[in-house]
Amino acid sequence: MKLSNRVNQIEESGTVQFTLLIQQLRRAGKDVIDLAVGEPPYDTPTAVIESTKQALDQGMTKYGPVAGLQELKLRLAQQFEGCDEKNIIIANGSKQCLYTMFQAICDPLDEVIIPRPFWVSFPQQVKLAGGRPIFVDTRNHQLDIDNIEQAVSPKTRAILVNSPNNPTGAVYPAHDLEKIATLALKHNLYIISDEAYSSYVFDGLQPESMFMFKEIRRQLIVTRSFSKGFNMTGFRIGYVAAPSDVIAALNKLQSHVTGNVCTFAQHGALAALGMNKNDMAPWCLDLERKRDYAYGKISGLFNCIKPQGAFYLFPDVSRHLDNGMTAADLAKKLLEETGVAVVPGEEFGMPGHIRISYAVSEDKLVSGLEKIAEAL
Ligand SMILES: Cc1ncc(COP(=O)(O)O)c(C=O)c1O
Repeated sequence: MKLSNRVNQIEESGTVQFTLLIQQLRRAGKDVIDLAVGEPPYDTPTAVIESTKQALDQGMTKYGPVAGLQELKLRLAQQFEGCDEKNIIIANGSKQCLYTMFQAICDPLDEVIIPRPFWVSFPQQVKLAGGRPIFVDTRNHQLDIDNIEQAVSPKTRAILVNSPNNPTGAVYPAHDLEKIATLALKHNLYIISDEAYSSYVFDGLQPESMFMFKEIRRQLIVTRSFSKGFNMTGFRIGYVAAPSDVIAALNKLQSHVTGNVCTFAQHGALAALGMNKNDMAPWCLDLERKRDYAYGKISGLFNCIKPQGAFYLFPDVSRHLDNGMTAADLAKKLLEETGVAVVPGEEFGMPGHIRISYAVSEDKLVSGLEKIAEAL
């Protein structure tokens, strides 16, 4: 029987497929070092677990408001000057936030400008909304504002910005974000700012949000998540901060798709917001140390730009690709011959590269990078 053209035109998430392959290999008894992983290696904080358990004990197991618990929305709104609960919606991870958001802003063939390389789901989600992803190459992993402006057409609806970036770990400086804001104002476009990794920036940098530019707030859609910053990937809690008409549209859509996010998980999220910043600082410091170690090793093997956020390196591996070998072939070879999993750049729209995650334990990181070096 025929499936819809809509679903036929998209691919399954390459990173999710990779996770399944790693699980299969492990079940078959192979020792895999997973440097393809997209989540921090730390435990979910005890305060979060306890609060979630308590919510369960107290019977908070029923439907809740579609847009999320009032208390959680109010707490989240405090992060955004001048916002209140009408500017926030909670969804099942920022992945669902982004999906619903594209459904809400794209008409058929509307264009969304996406800097390349990009997180795997952006283009597929735009396509699922009937839109067209328009890829614009970055320069040394940083935004190329002239290229972005040249890509603007009468069909452009939005520019997507993801900083800290997956897969490159690049953090965009405020002066470039400001240029994007100016561009969006000039052409009357939405800016979608995916800030899923905002907790992890290094070298003394502060996480910069597009929200700092007051004049674009009526066309700004920010997505954030509890997944990476609080080690709560399985809780599936993300949120959108946006103008109230956008939030109302997302609420309408969500009311037909999922309803509310798991009620007791939202109580866990409330506890996360109550945590002391000092309890979270060690994760970022640990990742920064691992970034330094991994960058030191990998830059000896490949051309690699030093990232300043998230937990990935995205080296150019082309000097090790002989006789028509692709980065996907190299990733397969590494997995089969050394048991080290990395994600090929093809998944992020950038062949000739691989994504290496250093969000693993120290011994796995040391041994995984040693094995890559030996294999090469
Ligand atoms: C750039 C980016 N945005 C959004 C997400 C979605 O994360 P979650 O749905 O867990 O919030 C991810 C997950 O890897 C990501 O890398």
